[in-house]
Amino acid sequence: MAQTDEQSLMHEQLLDRDCTTLSRHVLQQVVKTISSNGSLLSPEAQDISAIMNRLGLAGKLIARRLSRAGLMENALGMTGGVNVQGESVKKMDVFANEVFISVFKQSGLVCRLASEEMDKPYYIPENCPIGRYTLLYDPIDGSSNVDINLNVGSIFSIRQQQGDDLDGEANDLLQDGSKQLAAGYILYGPSTVFVYSVGNGVHSFVLDPSLGEFILAEENITIPEHGPVYSVNEGNFWQWDDSIRDYIRYVHRHEGYTARYSGALVGDFHRILLQGGVFLYPGTVKKPEGKLRLLYETAPLAFLINQAGGRASTGNQDLMKVVPEKLHQRTPLVIGSTEDVQLVESFIQDRNRRTSEGPVAAR
Ligand code: AHG
Ligand code: MN
Ligand code: MN
Repeated sequence: MAQTDEQSLMHEQLLDRDCTTLSRHVLQQVVKTISSNGSLLSPEAQDISAIMNRLGLAGKLIARRLSRAGLMENALGMTGGVNVQGESVKKMDVFANEVFISVFKQSGLVCRLASEEMDKPYYIPENCPIGRYTLLYDPIDGSSNVDINLNVGSIFSIRQQQGDDLDGEANDLLQDGSKQLAAGYILYGPSTVFVYSVGNGVHSFVLDPSLGEFILAEENITIPEHGPVYSVNEGNFWQWDDSIRDYIRYVHRHEGYTARYSGALVGDFHRILLQGGVFLYPGTVKKPEGKLRLLYETAPLAFLINQAGGRASTGNQDLMKVVPEKLHQRTPLVIGSTEDVQLVESFIQDRNRRTSEGPVAAR
């Protein structure tokens, strides 16, 4: 009898879990966020929830194509074109970019989309009379992994549109990371994982292909204070400032560190979010501001890491405080466990101090 009760309780819990879909969860979260900080009004709660649903649909469409890309004509490889960043564009970048546009057509939610693959923001005019939001996104993060069937992801951020943007320059987007209402990513790995925050913790979902739904996997993810992983492209060593070289020499000479670098920020970030450690993409000789883009990559992940109890920095400044001067601005990135990020920052501060003392000492 007792066992039957236990079994039925387990059965009920499993069913409850299967019914905690992304859409249900987001709605609960936005309602909580409204009551805790008053930053979202009720119609906004519904809007954010509807936007997140559509982002889930985008994730499913992209995951479906990726899962069969090797068998399809014209799914893999380069387009032959170059994007506004000067980077070669893959067919999957174009496909994924269009998916995000398509899922927001006739949504009445998103008037404007800004993507790293588009020079200028894309307007959906039929949404603009009532659509108060802008979606900023990196449609495929880690494109170099696409053709070899390794992890890639999509990163997104939602901001409120301010004003009518009549000149189409989107200058209202040139604000710091605190203006994000929500952010997240979709990781296309062995399973498809959807991670988001609306400013009330970080939550992850796994796509159950048999249901076609994202089901809650982990609520209120907290990053460890410290972790063993350092994640950086060490092929750039020759191009780094001495401070970053000092840090890398430090981890090489101390026990307890292990290197992991996948070529997809989303994948490396996900590992660190769950297990701790630090991801770095510092400035290089060729790219003094680093490679990653503030509005589509680093600010959304900074929003998430802060919500998970970690830290994001340029090395010199809290990443959430960086105000871009242009849409496609890049920033150096140091992100992950608080202690590990602070250790990198301490090497940078130490060098800054020594450099500023240098001339004094020489006099
Ligand atoms: P994207 O594919 O969106 O251009 O981003 C690639 C990024 C990021 O995902 C990754 O961490 C980094 O570029 C890899 O760059 P390197 O090859 O220079 O290490
Ligand atoms: Mn990217
Ligand atoms: Mn990309």
